[in-house]
Amino acid sequence: MPNQPLNDYRPLFIGLDALIPFMDGTCGCYTNLDNAASTPPLKAVQQAVDDFLVYYSSVHRGTGFKSQLSTYAYEQARQIVMRFVGADPMEHTCIFGKNTTEAINKLARRFPFDPKRNIVLTSAMEHHSNDLPWRAATPVIHVRLTPDGRLDEDDFDAQLSMHADKVALVALTGASNVTGYINPIHRLAGKAHAVGALLLVDCAQFAPHRKIDMLPLDHPEHLDFITISAHKMYAPFGTGALIGRKDIFESGDPDMTGGGTVEIVTLDSVVWSAPPEREEAGSPNTVGAVALAAAIRQLETVGMSEVAHHEAALTRYALEGLCHIQGLKVFGDNDPSKTEDRLGVIPIQLDHVPHFLAAAILGYEFGIGVRSGCFCAHPYILHLLGLSKEEADEVRHRIMAGDRSEMPGLIRASFGLYNTIEDVDTLLDALSHISKGEYKGKYVQDRATGEYSPVGWQLDFADYFNL
Ligand SMILES: Cc1ncc(COP(=O)(O)O)c(C=O)c1O
Repeated sequence: MPNQPLNDYRPLFIGLDALIPFMDGTCGCYTNLDNAASTPPLKAVQQAVDDFLVYYSSVHRGTGFKSQLSTYAYEQARQIVMRFVGADPMEHTCIFGKNTTEAINKLARRFPFDPKRNIVLTSAMEHHSNDLPWRAATPVIHVRLTPDGRLDEDDFDAQLSMHADKVALVALTGASNVTGYINPIHRLAGKAHAVGALLLVDCAQFAPHRKIDMLPLDHPEHLDFITISAHKMYAPFGTGALIGRKDIFESGDPDMTGGGTVEIVTLDSVVWSAPPEREEAGSPNTVGAVALAAAIRQLETVGMSEVAHHEAALTRYALEGLCHIQGLKVFGDNDPSKTEDRLGVIPIQLDHVPHFLAAAILGYEFGIGVRSGCFCAHPYILHLLGLSKEEADEVRHRIMAGDRSEMPGLIRASFGLYNTIEDVDTLLDALSHISKGEYKGKYVQDRATGEYSPVGWQLDFADYFNL
């Protein structure tokens, strides 16, 4: 147990008391430990959206009161996002979009790669969203990892110096969605800038849990670009943002063209608007921007240092408990005394229970939501599991043949601000039972998806929600 009781942030959130069915016929609260995927909404977000919808209308160039108010709200949301990450409106722009994936794809299409300086240096620990868009755009080098899955900074240094005049951009995650490791982004920024490269930090995982400070562009350790996703920040209304150097978006054609991106169009000419409008083709998701800003306001009220403190206490307590469960392995760093440079994201393996089965039992019998599999980070999982190239090839062949029954992977438990010590106890108790084979259901696997479902029990979602 932590030395001092933790604050209870559950009252700030929607839906935590909703009852869900368990396989034994009882009902109970859902224990959501899948926050690295998406987070539940804050009440403050719902309130802001409700208040805003009364006035909601078209933005930009609408002349009526509601249009002007909507434009005001949208631009205010942009300012709130920029202030939250330490961006300067003179140097940076904030481009709203759907999520981090869209933001990184945009940057990959808009980044001014020069044929002589076109390498992106990324790492083998990235989410696919910070890897595949770069592979589609330009040559990519993946920095190696240490055996326990951290970025190998010696290899980073070596790659950077070997390709010093060819690296255009370093693209790294702020925090891993698999191990929760936090990368030393400012130190790495300093090294990237020293060879004339820019730096993107994928903050999809980092932003809900730690303070971001992009720093002024003349600071050697500034961050040139960052991305965030609102659905991981307690504001699931379909918004994300790319925040970064304005100058990069002031020249070149936008990656997506259409309404809202132009100053003037004739039949044979186009003058693009200044960023961010130039980069936000079509009508924007104004409600999503308002929701994100409201979530940020709430996180700021709690304080990002308190967020970090609360989640570090949960992580410490979880790691202390997990090491007592026989036949359970925590991947990555499992040291409870080192929770400062990691998030509350814990990858777990049970010796005798496949990850898909363990996740199913957790869900059906214990009401616990986790994720299992490779978490959109296949190279990283293969590295952590120590699979050889031949073994990885075999996995690929089986998947291509439509068989995921032996898909390698892990179970992932990830904490958010509203989680409690009781949630961790629920997880520890469930894993301890499962590891001893103490579960009730009989499960059958779908070979195509790899997922397990209990025999003779079916959920009827229509009892809970209908449109
Ligand atoms: C580290 C990281 N980067 C990128 C993404 C992609 O985010 P989104 O699905 O919001 O685009 C995720 C999502 O899990 C992530 O964890």
